Amino acid sequence: MTDLTADNPADLPPLIDPFARRIDYLRVSVTDRCDFRCVYCMSEQMQFLPKQELLTLEELDRLCTSFVDLGVRKLRITGGEPLVRRNIMWFFERMGRHLQSGALRELTLTTNGSQLRRFAQDLAQIGVKRVNVSLDTLDEAKFARITRWGRLAQVLDGIDAAQEAGMAVKLNCVALKGQNDDEFHAMVEWCGARGIDLVFIEVMPMGDMSISSEDGAVSGDPMRLDQYLSLEDVRRQLAERWTLSDSAYSTGGPARYTRCEETGAKIGFITPLSHNFCESCNRVRVTCTGQLFMCLGQDDDADLRKVLRASPDDAELHDAIRRAIARKPKGHDFDYSRQRVDGQMPRHMNVTGG
Ligand code: GTP
Ligand code: 5AD
Ligand code: SF4
Repeated sequence: MTDLTADNPADLPPLIDPFARRIDYLRVSVTDRCDFRCVYCMSEQMQFLPKQELLTLEELDRLCTSFVDLGVRKLRITGGEPLVRRNIMWFFERMGRHLQSGALRELTLTTNGSQLRRFAQDLAQIGVKRVNVSLDTLDEAKFARITRWGRLAQVLDGIDAAQEAGMAVKLNCVALKGQNDDEFHAMVEWCGARGIDLVFIEVMPMGDMSISSEDGAVSGDPMRLDQYLSLEDVRRQLAERWTLSDSAYSTGGPARYTRCEETGAKIGFITPLSHNFCESCNRVRVTCTGQLFMCLGQDDDADLRKVLRASPDDAELHDAIRRAIARKPKGHDFDYSRQRVDGQMPRHMNVTGG
């Protein structure tokens, strides 16, 4: 494959995968570190990558710019927690130039909210119009239990800061049986009152599936299975109190949206287990070490760091990206339907940023 027109990125052919899906959404994890330790994402004793393994911010700039050249229109910065990476605003500013040129339609991030008070104004100024904040509960004690290290008040203050800066906020709430399923009505109400959209997510079998408890017992697969709540049930529960009308609204992400007539806010559902949405997949992920994962739920990856460091020639990077997209699989194999966890991924969620 030859990159004939690298001088004029607008003429480069777009990224199309083997199933005729156009790839125009890139999720970039800029760090594997986080100031929280959410139970469904990390173990408490995480080994993080040594610094020299990470792409530098300059390398991340070059890599993301190549994807933009190849037709990526939506760029989501993730982690770990993206806002704990040192000097991350430099990188956001660099990506801001693609918004200004019109090459990028959206620059955004998924965050745990803990650092938003510090960075919301800068992000808004750079052109970030909305942020997704992960928040599974409004109960302080429960929040501490789920995130292990998080403080709810700090996140709520971060959400206020984002709204004060003029950014739209969307909450991501992982539905966890026996943990936050008594709070869904309260969350709808809380979000509705603040003009915040709310998205429920089915818990996926990623990362630490077998955690030894203090007494030595191993709670492996059953742990995720025990926590799993189908969002069909959640929607039924919500309908007891709220009128949810289907909506054609789309962000280009995997959520299906409804409009809550009582509050006017949107309520979305991300259902990798109960309703697979892979057929409309438009996205790939880059880790902070420059591995390109073609699917969240599969293992295959391409080492873009090697290509980046081998040559300053962007045409080679473009070729490597195209070759990887040509291997994008049809979808994930997550499955709980046989009362056990199938398709599980040993990779922790903080590696790919969800
Ligand atoms: P919007 O731009 O607001 O639509 O965001 P998004 O839903 O694309 O991104 P976000 O980071 O908020 O992700 C929400 C949840 O969707 C996370 O749990 C992700 O892991 C999950 N998710 C995103 N893309 C995929 C995907 O391709 N497959 C699966 N199985 N889950 C995904
Ligand atoms: N299943 C579903 N969602 C998860 N997230 C993290 N781990 C999991 C999991 N195992 C969510 C976070 C965050 C998003 C990026 O991914 O809550 O909102
Ligand atoms: Fe950190 Fe997000 Fe993982 Fe929680 S889900 S530990 S906030 S990266």
